[in-house]
Amino acid sequence: MSDGRRPLVAGNWKMNKTAAEAREFCTALASLLGPDPPADVVVCPPFTALEAVVVALGSSPIAVYAQAVHGAAGGPHTGEISADMLRATGVVGTLVGHSERRAARETDEQVAQSLRAGLDAGLMVVLCCGESLGTRRGGGTERWVAAQVASALAAVHPGDGDRLVIAYEPIWAIGTGETASPAEAQEACAIVRAVASERVDGAALRVLYGGSVTPANAAALMAQPDVDGVLVGGASLEPGSFARIVAAAG
Ligand code: PGA
Repeated sequence: MSDGRRPLVAGNWKMNKTAAEAREFCTALASLLGPDPPADVVVCPPFTALEAVVVALGSSPIAVYAQAVHGAAGGPHTGEISADMLRATGVVGTLVGHSERRAARETDEQVAQSLRAGLDAGLMVVLCCGESLGTRRGGGTERWVAAQVASALAAVHPGDGDRLVIAYEPIWAIGTGETASPAEAQEACAIVRAVASERVDGAALRVLYGGSVTPANAAALMAQPDVDGVLVGGASLEPGSFARIVAAAG
């Protein structure tokens, strides 16, 4: 973390929690964090719980982002959600390009379109990138991550920089319990920042690490100079463990 960049801790719930479960979580989290947490705090519920979470978090400092957004403004896209629909729900940001969606079907081009749609609608956008185990073992991490970031940011303008966040999430670390070491996270986040600096102000850009973050390893990861926060999956599902990760940013 650097002095100039406020840490960001985001919880990606993935396909977990009904609206009722989400409400209960929010009440507990808001009371654990209080009015002035040491980081920007974000939760990313599934679409069906977004509205309930926006209402439940009301005046708390916790922001609500979606997990994905479609690149088109509207039309024949069954099952998809547009950036304007998110905005109308009170959501203020979205993830794009999570590796679980890329693995299912999302292309680099679609990720870039989603990112552009989110920014155009005035949302914060967290672009996710990261390499597979095979790519890392083959020494291709830098090239892979740089290509993903460059492709997604091709249509980004310098003025978009303050609404952009990039999360480096090595696929081999997601949900596996095998976290990148602080040094590995630092190295990759520095690459992300350097590549993104060609399009936006890199010194102001927040770069997060994600992949098996827990209350036990969060502080060491966020102590790295280019790691400005964390994107948390499994450990964000329980208010106590997510609150401890937020506290680690202080
Ligand atoms: P994990 O997931 O913390 O459960 O590894 C991280 C993510 O996919 O964002």
